[in-house]
Amino acid sequence: MDIDTIKAQAETDIENINSLQALEEFRIKYLGRKGLIAQLTAYIPSLAVEQRGTFGQQVNVLKNKIASLVDEKQKLLAAPAGETIAGQVDMSMPGFTPDLGRLHPITQVVDEICTIFNHMGFSVVEGPEIETEYNNFTGLNIPLEHPSRDVFDTFYLKFPRFRVDELSRLTRQRANAPTGKLLLRSHTSPVQIRVMKSRKPPLAVIVPGRVYRPDAVDASHSFMFHQVEGFMVDNDIRFSDLKGVLEVFAKAIFGQEIKMRFRPHFFPFTEPSAEVDISCIICKGEQRTENREQRRHCSVCGGKGWLEILGSGMIHPNVFKHVGYDPKKYTGFAFGMGVERIAMLKHGIDDIRLFFENDLRFLKQF
Ligand code: PHE
Repeated sequence: MDIDTIKAQAETDIENINSLQALEEFRIKYLGRKGLIAQLTAYIPSLAVEQRGTFGQQVNVLKNKIASLVDEKQKLLAAPAGETIAGQVDMSMPGFTPDLGRLHPITQVVDEICTIFNHMGFSVVEGPEIETEYNNFTGLNIPLEHPSRDVFDTFYLKFPRFRVDELSRLTRQRANAPTGKLLLRSHTSPVQIRVMKSRKPPLAVIVPGRVYRPDAVDASHSFMFHQVEGFMVDNDIRFSDLKGVLEVFAKAIFGQEIKMRFRPHFFPFTEPSAEVDISCIICKGEQRTENREQRRHCSVCGGKGWLEILGSGMIHPNVFKHVGYDPKKYTGFAFGMGVERIAMLKHGIDDIRLFFENDLRFLKQF
């Protein structure tokens, strides 16, 4: 075989190479210890002395040529998919599908709740998660040292004094409220105080947000969770308005067939107060005539047939006094619900911790 034939052969061979393995075979065939170049080199001593120099040079040129063919091909094969070495995009490569993000299930439920109330004319207001003791308790008719404060067990902040003063000043400016200790709000009700201090009735407001309580974490408790507060104040707001609004809400979020009941309860900031239950969405509330055995087996409602979903009532006159409304002139209702609880009932989730672990296998289901 002469040099030109080998060169032509190498150029054809390299064209057809598509893998690093084939390239290695190519390299061995031409440049290997027993390869074609080695064979040509071994041939040199048998040539006439005058021919050896020129031939040797030609072999060397061919060897370099083949080595650079291997180099180029090597770069091409190692280049990232879709790119040629020239950096051009290979339009025939399949595309990448980016992972699409989505809203967290809690955010979705908050949005759904707010949308339902928006349709009934409520507007959305948010408040800060760091609150004054006044807005979280005193303004809401929960007196200092009163045992009812225990119900809303609270994280107090231990800022250095100057920090507290600074923050209190800022908070006071905004909420126009007397100051005290600062805390992580234990419910969204303090936003009632903020809104009522800065606006006059008529008011129909919904307040989504995070709240904090020093509870030990388990399947149904978390030190942080979400609430949606709602309230309406005007000249002639009645308990029947509360019932109507909540019924529209419960049916919109859980389905038209859902039943609702109001159970007398106590909250310092509403009078009268009620807790609201919906018929169990798992066992469908069971008619009273149905056999008790079966009801006892529903793990979601514990066989009771009812599920508590929120607290509510008519805003206490003392709250109106605190915000400077005339309790003889205005009446209003308020309610507050736990978003995680609603989301758990809606989706049949049995552990609140799933919302905060952020495991994509859980989150991707919503
Ligand atoms: N703030 C109460 C709670 O966190 C709920 C509530 C709000 C009750 C408004 C009545 C009126 O439990």
